[in-house]
Amino acid sequence: MSPKSGNKAPASKPWGGRFSEATDPAVERFSASIHFDRLLARHDIHGSKAQAHMLGEVGLISPQEVEALIGGLDRIAEEIAEGSFPFDAALEDIHMNIESRLRAHLGPVAGKLHTGRSRNDQIATDLALFLRDVSLETQRGLLALRGVLLERARENIETILPGYTHLQRAQPVRLAHHWLAHIETLGRDASRLRDARARIDRCPLGAGAMAGSTLPLDREHSAMALGFDAPTRNSMDTVASRDFALEYMAVAAISMVHLSRLAEELVLWSSAEFGFVELADAYSTGSSLMPQKKNPDVPEIVRGKSGRAIGNLVTLLTVLKGLPLTYNRDLQEDKEPLFDTVETLRNSLEVMAGAIATLDVKRERMREAAADPMLLATDLAEILVRAEVPFRDAHEVVGRIIGHVTRKQIDLRSLSHADMQSFHEAFEAGADELLDLERSLESRSLAGGTARVRVEAVLDEIEAELSAERSEIEALEASGAVAT
Ligand code: ARG
Repeated sequence: MSPKSGNKAPASKPWGGRFSEATDPAVERFSASIHFDRLLARHDIHGSKAQAHMLGEVGLISPQEVEALIGGLDRIAEEIAEGSFPFDAALEDIHMNIESRLRAHLGPVAGKLHTGRSRNDQIATDLALFLRDVSLETQRGLLALRGVLLERARENIETILPGYTHLQRAQPVRLAHHWLAHIETLGRDASRLRDARARIDRCPLGAGAMAGSTLPLDREHSAMALGFDAPTRNSMDTVASRDFALEYMAVAAISMVHLSRLAEELVLWSSAEFGFVELADAYSTGSSLMPQKKNPDVPEIVRGKSGRAIGNLVTLLTVLKGLPLTYNRDLQEDKEPLFDTVETLRNSLEVMAGAIATLDVKRERMREAAADPMLLATDLAEILVRAEVPFRDAHEVVGRIIGHVTRKQIDLRSLSHADMQSFHEAFEAGADELLDLERSLESRSLAGGTARVRVEAVLDEIEAELSAERSEIEALEASGAVAT
């Protein structure tokens, strides 16, 4: 099939020189990435300005040319910000769209910007700058959610609920302790982001298509200008690798799984069966058919969206797995999954923070559920252990007690001192006296336990950690280590 007339002549494309036929429109549509990589415009311009300054510094272009290029790039940044930039799919990607616009504004001098540069090191640079930014932004989102959880935890030190294993009531805990558990997981996600960001410390610019350049470029200059520690060490690795994107997506997938588990609890807890919480009207929706329904759609969607983050990670892993060195156009397939993950996590963090901040906690329902004396069965066994009964025997004795009350359908607390002694003589009182919810919680005062002192100490510790992290993020933003 011959290309349709009216299609752009190849000479209008920056790479058109060796071509004599126009690109087939279907190929143009198929290979264009501008409809998604326009998201990188800000970072692309940031990298191009550093490139222009570097070229001026080494004398490959004149100071007047540097000035013209910077002015043109700033003008384009404004056009993009105000929405007047004419994005054109025939120009494939964000790099060629910007370069072509620069030519329209400045004429032939625009052609000097790409000196010693390839789109291969350019896209690697754009992505590195983008990832540095979004990983910090994601860390902020995680910080905000942890802040909300911390606040709600503080309000709920005295709120007691059953802790679960196998979704069966296990032992009583403070709601503060429960939410602190989620803060721990989300805190590790933030720390993973920080670790991954520390590896985005080398500047790709100057790696060229794959083997550097014969021109006297100053890669240190570009690296410093863009806030990297140094230029990358191997030009082939630089244009071929995307593990910085993989790492972000892996952390994001882990974090979405964590949010999904938190979301799942909100879904369960807002059911009539649990009745532990009620989502605010602003964070739930109704049924179009059943007027009585109030549905936990927000946590459900978060739970559902975790699949995207997992899928996006698998997509990029799969794109990369068979690629020989160095750059291959397959790599263009990195962007949509990456962008989707960034947006999915950003939105999920935001709505989860809102849902939890506005959540109505049904303290009475939680306490009622936790008042089930069966939850203190382990405590009974440990009472025997203190009287030097081997734990396995103690477990057996208490198992028989539980079996007895379950068969007789009586309350464990109704067993008298004599009843208890009929199971083991080391019991020094009736069950009612031995079993006390408050005492049970307070005796779990080991490190990591749910006793009030422990929980309060951890709340303070985390508050200090969050405020240190907030200062660290703000300092990074202020230092310009992150592209603006
Ligand atoms: N749009 C391309 C990408 O996302 C930019 C690099 C293109 N390089 C090339 N040689 N065609 O990977």
